[in-house]
Amino acid sequence: MKKICMIGIGYVGLPTAAMFASKGHKVIGYDLNQKAVDALNRGEIIIEEPGLLELVKSCVEKGTLSATTTCPPDCDVYIIAVPTPINEDKTADMSYVQSATKAIVPHLRKGNIVILESTSPPRTVEDLMLPILKETGLVLGEELLVAHSPERILPGRVIEELRTNSRIVGGINEKSSLEVKKVYESIVEGEIFITTSTTAEMCKVMENTFRDVNIALANELAKISEELGVNAFEVIELANKHPRVNLLSPGPGVGGHCIALDPWFLVEKSENAKLIKQARLINDSMPSFVFEKIKTILGGFNGQTISILGATYKPNIDDVRESPIMHLIDMLKKENLKLNICEPHVKDDITDNMELYPSLEGSSLMVLAVNHDEFKDIDFKKVSSLLKDKNILDTRNFFDRKQIEENNINYYLLGEK
Ligand SMILES: NC(=O)c1ccc[n+]([C@@H]2O[C@H](COP(=O)([O-])OP(=O)(O)OC[C@H]3O[C@@H](n4cnc5c(N)ncnc54)[C@H](O)[C@@H]3O)[C@@H](O)[C@H]2O)c1
Repeated sequence: MKKICMIGIGYVGLPTAAMFASKGHKVIGYDLNQKAVDALNRGEIIIEEPGLLELVKSCVEKGTLSATTTCPPDCDVYIIAVPTPINEDKTADMSYVQSATKAIVPHLRKGNIVILESTSPPRTVEDLMLPILKETGLVLGEELLVAHSPERILPGRVIEELRTNSRIVGGINEKSSLEVKKVYESIVEGEIFITTSTTAEMCKVMENTFRDVNIALANELAKISEELGVNAFEVIELANKHPRVNLLSPGPGVGGHCIALDPWFLVEKSENAKLIKQARLINDSMPSFVFEKIKTILGGFNGQTISILGATYKPNIDDVRESPIMHLIDMLKKENLKLNICEPHVKDDITDNMELYPSLEGSSLMVLAVNHDEFKDIDFKKVSSLLKDKNILDTRNFFDRKQIEENNINYYLLGEK
């Protein structure tokens, strides 16, 4: 059993720390956030994740999991799971990884292991971490083992996926990879693949880039379809009958703190990342595209009321980070309009958050922005009676057009003129 320090006990670090602790390792969470540390020491959590509270509580009660705001000495393994956001200019903000690495330097001893879990631009371990870790005086790869092991968990299924997902371990040499693999074997039932640290960094960033580029292709198809007078969703359905085609669906943009950010790590690193950059720009242009469509439907903005259904970056979650709908809302707020927003999953962040039907009263256009389950069984007869001008814009191909048109409402679809 090892003594493990988890640096950063957020969405990634806390469940991972608790998993290690549940397998009998002694785990100390080190975080600068006093609230997160105090909560953990009480056996409580400040983030939402099914099953996490029970796991944390039982480990704290057993004495295998605790937290502190000062970097703990005498650990065998130091795992870094701190944020890697992007700056205004779309370059990676690596200051958290840098300061976390500096914090552990005074405590590192012969035989220790350092693992970077944060999603990072390729070459972060080699170019940013190793020069700092050299200050320990230890022989890197021999006396101090170092690797990147990216996290691919899906929020909402974190505990299960930490156990069953396969994992990539990229060491700075083979000895590092093999020792770090052993560490994860105590919690991971999926396969663990060994590679170099830079390949591991590249894999994680490319996984999210793959999604982003494919979504951009669908979004571009939506734009072209509107120009050429076809329905993008019908094209996708029929084209996907081909055994080797799998087009994704267009929408009002890409959000969240992974897919909308990570591809920029490659754009920053290489001038060859042209398609990747273009895909980012296409996806980032979608809120403006929807904005223009709204303007066309209404024939300009002159004090009308618009109802926006949903504001999160994907359905059935409470997260508005990088949400394209928030960008759309910001654009609409600058116009001569009254905005009614109905977002059943978010309570604090959105002003004037309303119930569904009251949000439609006197409105000239209802925009389905996020396909939350709550909007599945809308009564369009009631909608028709509430709307002032009978217009619906569906940005997700979510509603049944026939039902809407039967109630004398004009149906507009993203990806169709
Ligand atoms: N959340 C996800 O679903 C997910 C999935 C895969 C990968 N990732 C990646 O994992 C990394 C962490 O993401 P997260 O969602 O857990 O972030 P988070 O913001 O939830 O947690 C990070 C924690 O690190 C702490 N911290 C920051 N700097 C610190 C320092 N110098 N020393 C100690 N603690 C420090 C913060 O206080 C915070 O509690 C990021 O690189 C992210 O891209 C996240």
